[in-house]
Amino acid sequence: MIGRLNHVAIVVPDLTAAAKLYTDGLGASVSKPIPLPEHGVTTVFVELPNSKIELLHPLGEDSPVEKFLSNNPSGGMHHLCYEVEDLQAAIDHLVAEGARVLGDGKPRLGAHNLPVVFLHPKDFCGTLIELEEVAR
Ligand code: CO
Repeated sequence: MIGRLNHVAIVVPDLTAAAKLYTDGLGASVSKPIPLPEHGVTTVFVELPNSKIELLHPLGEDSPVEKFLSNNPSGGMHHLCYEVEDLQAAIDHLVAEGARVLGDGKPRLGAHNLPVVFLHPKDFCGTLIELEEVAR
């Protein structure tokens, strides 16, 4: 069912410093910081040959990553995002298997303007999982 690893998201305390680590340290190409107010984050995309890393920093009040950052002040891995071709079919299958979809269980538009859902980390080995529908 799942396809490619679309991205790994890392919450960071300082986006500029983190972007510099990836450019100067690891030699990756990174985007400029992109504010996504509707998601409560500012993100820097790190392009890798086979996937992406998304560096996330809280934006505004009620950011979904604010608590994570206060619990992990030096930052940390936040979620993995897997691609699926049919998100509703994936949700139906996972719910039938006993997995919990976060929120109201319905897809919403994610950071790439594609439908996404998040799955409860307790159902996936302590890892928050994002599923993103990608066209094939
Ligand atoms: Co994500």
